Amino acid sequence: MCGIVGYIGDENASDIVIDGLKRLEYRGYDSAGIALCTKDGMMVRKKKGRIKNLEDMIAGENLYGHLAIGHTRWATHGAPSDANAHPHCDRSGKIAVVHNGIVENFMQLKEWLISEHGVEFHSETDTEVIAQLIGIFYHGDFEDAVFQAVEKMQGAYGLGVICADEPGKLIAVRKDSPLIVGLGEGCNFIASDIPAILKHVRKIYLIENNETVVLTASSVKIYNAERREVHREVFNVTWDADAAEKEGYDHFMLKEIHEQPKGIRNTITRRMDEEGNIVLDGIRMTKEEIENFNKVYIVACGTAYHAGLIGKTVIEKLAGISVEVDVASEFRYRDPFVDENTLFIAISQSGETLDTLAALREAKRKGARILSVVNVVGSSVARESDDVFYTWAGPEIAVASTKAYTTQLVCMYLIGLYMGRAKGSLEDSVYRTYIEELLTVPEKIEEVLKQERQIADLAKKYYKRDNIFFIGRGMDAAVSYEGSLKLKEISYINSFAIAAGELKHGTIALIEDGTLVVSIAAQDRLFEKMLSNIQEVKARGADILALAKESNTAVERQADDVIYIPECMDEITPLISIVPLQILAYYIAKQRGCDIDKPKNLAKSVTVE
Ligand code: AGP
Repeated sequence: MCGIVGYIGDENASDIVIDGLKRLEYRGYDSAGIALCTKDGMMVRKKKGRIKNLEDMIAGENLYGHLAIGHTRWATHGAPSDANAHPHCDRSGKIAVVHNGIVENFMQLKEWLISEHGVEFHSETDTEVIAQLIGIFYHGDFEDAVFQAVEKMQGAYGLGVICADEPGKLIAVRKDSPLIVGLGEGCNFIASDIPAILKHVRKIYLIENNETVVLTASSVKIYNAERREVHREVFNVTWDADAAEKEGYDHFMLKEIHEQPKGIRNTITRRMDEEGNIVLDGIRMTKEEIENFNKVYIVACGTAYHAGLIGKTVIEKLAGISVEVDVASEFRYRDPFVDENTLFIAISQSGETLDTLAALREAKRKGARILSVVNVVGSSVARESDDVFYTWAGPEIAVASTKAYTTQLVCMYLIGLYMGRAKGSLEDSVYRTYIEELLTVPEKIEEVLKQERQIADLAKKYYKRDNIFFIGRGMDAAVSYEGSLKLKEISYINSFAIAAGELKHGTIALIEDGTLVVSIAAQDRLFEKMLSNIQEVKARGADILALAKESNTAVERQADDVIYIPECMDEITPLISIVPLQILAYYIAKQRGCDIDKPKNLAKSVTVE
């Protein structure tokens, strides 16, 4: 959701914080702001819209100071506006706050501040309540005021707080929203995400829930909720800062689409010994534990949920165990059957999605063993899991998830294979066939990437359509959901995906002349059935853009256009067939002039419910 950055040190804090905000803009981008302690006191500048608007606003101003906090917003309470933009101040103007998350009891706190203290509010945000609350408790002891305010707050928050009376101190607090501290030489940082500060530091403290951090230029102290100082190991970031740059691509999304062969190679080969045996680093489950599971629950949101749908088919087939899949926001409120014999798999790129985190906690409370499939190392989901299976996709910046998805799929295969073997239910020859096939996936995706120009031409042909349907059967149905989500989130075209066999039970009523139906017929096993479904929509006037394996040229008799993928085993087609759909979505959105990496109303990491 929102991004926060803070700096304390010898350099000009405003330059560093604005640069950090730019690197975090993918987290939210409907307004941005900065608060700076200067020799003349607290200066706050904030503006609706992108960070560029903020930069234009302060251009020419001499904003100089050694302590600053900044924020890029994804609106929750109150529309995007200058007034609702962060930072927010208390009534004295001495305290400034940036916040990522939601204060659930903000209405009660607001009423209390108004009735008991006569506080006047200038925004509709929950964050201003935090600033005013700290202001009420501030009587010369900044740290104490923050501690007292936090005790009254319910909900999720990553906070950066500064006080004009103490220009040598930056305070940060974390509860259920991501927060890290960067350790520099003669300077220190806070941020909601590592890329914001990676240019300056590689040594990081991962802040835990209910911790408060007090930073000066030369020290960092972490306190628990009881105000006792706690020790934290330094976490060294090993990935390259350049990995979070565009490297000549027009958009992060396109770069990340192209990084899939590499991400998949990393995710597979780092888990395999020379004999082709899977070695699951980070997973300590014993053979006996695996044998005792009677159910697997996969829970995730959005694209990660779509990876879970494929995971269900794969794990059921390879490990011979029943798998349920659910969206995290539904799972947590319906008292699901989960117990100590359940393996709960949480899938999340960011590892900070609040719904997924809450579902994980609910499953943990019920006694399940928690295994997470996560991309961001050290994220909340990873830290709260019993075992973590990292996807080695590298940082994913574009809001539309691509390489995280395909590496999540790889993890589903590896987990299924590993469990099947541990249980003794998977024949060795089947295991070997899967491994051989998986190892060929990166080069098959490279083949698909060579068709980028042809797919871009198809985008030029179809980008003006108002409605685009996606259909498929079996695993192709799950791929169609993901293809449709990709398209709608970045191009804003109304798109709907449905299992092809389900069409005739209602949805086919929507098909009319000129409706584009993207028909995924990638599995040989279901190819003939798909041809029938394609015929059904074709007969009602639809235009067909089909996706099939190279050998299935019979599809040309029905389709207006075909994208072919290389031959491969049916069971691994989802890893390959999604790639042309990502490229199609990208070029359709480009034709329509959309802001591809930062689509409207969305944010990369959804840290609110
Ligand atoms: C993907 O394109 C979406 N932006 C979104 O559905 C995303 O996958 C979802 O919010 C889950 O995020 P996570 O993987 O970080 O938990």
